[in-house]
Amino acid sequence: MWHTVKGTLVIKANGHNYREAVCTAAELLRQGKLVAFPTETVYGLGASALDEEALKKVFRAKGRPMDNPFIIHICHLDQLQELTTDLPDDALRLAADFWPGPLTLVCRRSSRVPLVATAGLQTVAVRMPDHSLTLDLLQKCRLPLVGPSANLSGRPSPTTAHHVLQDLAGRISAVLDGGPCPVGLESTVLDLTTAAPRILRPGAVTREQLARALGKEIEEAASWERNKTGIPPSPGLKYRHYAPKTALCLVEGEPRAVEEKLKQLCLQKKEEGMKLGLLLSKETAPSFRGCYIKALGSRSQPRELAQNLYTALRELDEQNLDFILAEGYQGEGVVLALMNRLRKAAAEIIKA
Ligand code: TXA
Ligand code: MG
Repeated sequence: MWHTVKGTLVIKANGHNYREAVCTAAELLRQGKLVAFPTETVYGLGASALDEEALKKVFRAKGRPMDNPFIIHICHLDQLQELTTDLPDDALRLAADFWPGPLTLVCRRSSRVPLVATAGLQTVAVRMPDHSLTLDLLQKCRLPLVGPSANLSGRPSPTTAHHVLQDLAGRISAVLDGGPCPVGLESTVLDLTTAAPRILRPGAVTREQLARALGKEIEEAASWERNKTGIPPSPGLKYRHYAPKTALCLVEGEPRAVEEKLKQLCLQKKEEGMKLGLLLSKETAPSFRGCYIKALGSRSQPRELAQNLYTALRELDEQNLDFILAEGYQGEGVVLALMNRLRKAAAEIIKA
């Protein structure tokens, strides 16, 4: 009923096949196999969070450094209690307000969580995804599942089953295909083990929303990223992520200045004989021609920009370009998450 790509089973969860799809994926996971699954943010590479051998396979399949811990996905609040100790009130408050949803909470680890999952840390990252298929899968397999983004380490995160197969076909048992991911950027990671809650990775749940829910200031780990001295607050921060193979230059600043700078760089690169790709908003795109242009969406719809980012980066990468120029955006909320990913993808950042 389902086809395979290089030995990886592609389990389409639609219509009358839905129940069977969920059961098949759950059974493979219970056997300690690796199955990629969709969430509202990006596809995750699923494995039992309680099975050390399965966890080691996840590191190998992704080519992930062993010191980068996993997020554990759950479908019941009871599981948060089981996986953690000394759970702060803030965690329950945020879970009540934002779960299921794109928010990951870092809390103290309970002894039930294998150290392989937390990369030796005494803290554990947990989230309840807001996607009915993921929640059905978690219910069915009755296991907490790790779910690092289902890409090869260093590649853009996958937002479709096709992206997962581009990177991991032949390296994992199956992918559960639930269509494209609606958010398109990874969850907000919030550390609740420090004196003040601290955002380790910005996402669709914003700092303002978190501050309002808790009635207190929320810190950001961004300052560590600027200086890169001492121990990183999250192991993931020290790796260059989301990088396309083609060198990408990000131009930041006020929209008019960005457009002018992009025009100037575009001419310059063309004169150097480069095959150029442009990653632009719908508003800016009409001012350019003669290069490979990818329009992300409207500047007035930041969620649309976010949703399309990783697909666009993968598409640009397939064009055998010499260079990619990307438009930067100004704003709050999800724009900050979008700009965080664009900066990580960039080989060079220019202020217009
Ligand atoms: O939206 C998401 O969070 C997706 C979907 C599939 O759920 N998953 C995801 O996982 O992005 P991954 O492994 O690609 O990113 C997890 C991030 C890494 O930067 C990691 O360093 C950080 O979370 N992390 C995990 N456990 C941590 C911990 N105990 N303390 C600090 N950071 C942690
Ligand atoms: Mg990732």
